[in-house]
Amino acid sequence: MINKTLANFIMSGNLKRVIFWSLVLLFITNTAIIYCSGSDYDFGKAFLTEDSKKGKLLFQEYNCISCHQLYGLGGYMGADLTNVISTAGKGKTYAKSFISYGTERMPNFHLNQDQIKALLAYLTYVDKTGISPVINFEVKWDGTIMQKESR
Ligand code: HEC
Repeated sequence: MINKTLANFIMSGNLKRVIFWSLVLLFITNTAIIYCSGSDYDFGKAFLTEDSKKGKLLFQEYNCISCHQLYGLGGYMGADLTNVISTAGKGKTYAKSFISYGTERMPNFHLNQDQIKALLAYLTYVDKTGISPVINFEVKWDGTIMQKESR
């Protein structure tokens, strides 16, 4: 009796319909979950402070980009500053000494403490927003990737 009902159910095409609509429903639910969950990666937003905004204006005013790159773009007399804050062996104090005093090749802009603090805040913000130079990856035979060299 039960077998017969089951057979009828399958034969009638109802099962196909149930499977089809279940899959549609799963697809919609999954899409909705992914769409609504978003990303909690903040791309440096937490570091976009008043100081860092001031620093950005100073970076433009003193035309740092004429000698330095951000995200790989800019002049090539000085180093790329994108990750100067987080690079091992460099960092805030290191950057501060260049910005405060210049060197033989980098001009001393005679900035005051507030301006220096703002520029460092801007460089800290930039550091969170990208990696430069771009990390070099190698695709292995099985399709996975491996970092070629670290910056
Ligand atoms: C005339 C070109 C020039 C300008 C303009 C300039 N710099 Fe530089 N900067 C250099 C050079 C060249 C060096 C490397 C200095 C050296 O090795 O003697 C350097 C080094 C640095 C470093 C250390 C980078 C590292 O990774 O070693 C920082 C940080 C820096 N500059 C920040 C700034 C900021 C901020 C400004 C704008 C206020 C600026 N620079 C404007 C030429 C410049």
